[in-house]
Amino acid sequence: MKPPISNETRLCASIAGSANKLSPLLHNAAYEELGLDFVFLAFGVSDLRGAIAGVRALNIRGLAVSMPHKQEVMRYLDRVDPVASRIGAVNTIVNEGGALTGYNSDWIGAIRALQERTDLAEKEVILVGAGGAARAVAYGLRESGARVRVYNRSAEKARELADEFGLSLGGGLESLDSSTDYDIIINATSVGTPPDMDRSVIPRENLKEGKVIMDIVFFPFTTRLVREAESVGCVAIRGYRMLIHQARFQFKLFTGREPPLKTLEKAMLDAMGMSR
Ligand code: ATR
Repeated sequence: MKPPISNETRLCASIAGSANKLSPLLHNAAYEELGLDFVFLAFGVSDLRGAIAGVRALNIRGLAVSMPHKQEVMRYLDRVDPVASRIGAVNTIVNEGGALTGYNSDWIGAIRALQERTDLAEKEVILVGAGGAARAVAYGLRESGARVRVYNRSAEKARELADEFGLSLGGGLESLDSSTDYDIIINATSVGTPPDMDRSVIPRENLKEGKVIMDIVFFPFTTRLVREAESVGCVAIRGYRMLIHQARFQFKLFTGREPPLKTLEKAMLDAMGMSR
């Protein structure tokens, strides 16, 4: 049982352009389960500098950072972990006695979500996308020993990402066709969520039985890509798995405890209206 809120209770929070409803549900459910004297709130923030000053002034223990603040927030911190610095984005901040350190847990979330269903070493991976999320996934894949080819609507951005992380260049989306061979395809673009709902960047003829398909899009719960992948017998990984695993990493940094996976899963599926 979680103790009642008191002046000993530690506060953690999320900041995003508009308040994120998922993070509080996950973290608070795990505090409850473990009986931790913490509470987690969500804030929609436009004054980022002011919000970080508030974290220091109010001694907020940990912060989950979502778009559009993941890059800009780096300049307000005392230290940025080398991996987050390499990826160029911070989505997790830990306050140790007033010193704020930024981390990135997005890459860990993506890799753990994949590793639940497949090995990564030596696997041929098609990574579609070259934005912020794709950078985190690219970093994780490289660390895991996968062989990655990057494709993106803007082929130039695909080339920049491939060069920066030492990956192969696939090219523009038009170069993805049914002859492209692979073990794993990852959609790391925003296609599939509003305003690009019910669209997929991966042509249906590229989806082959037994191959692994991951979508980082988590809303809707089943994207068009996941639906099509399942219909041809692929191993389909939904975006919410990545969210759960990145939240686990944050939770551990904030509290020093491992959150029960089952509790996070239940809170997430309840929030998405998918509980059985
Ligand atoms: P995020 O941080 O979510 O990755 P981002 O940095 O804006 O957001 O990157 C968005 C990614 O989705 C990019 O790879 C983008 O392709 P471009 O680099 O060509 O812009 C991709 N994307 C967004 N809308 C798209 C669309 N309608 N079709 C194809 N790709 C799209």
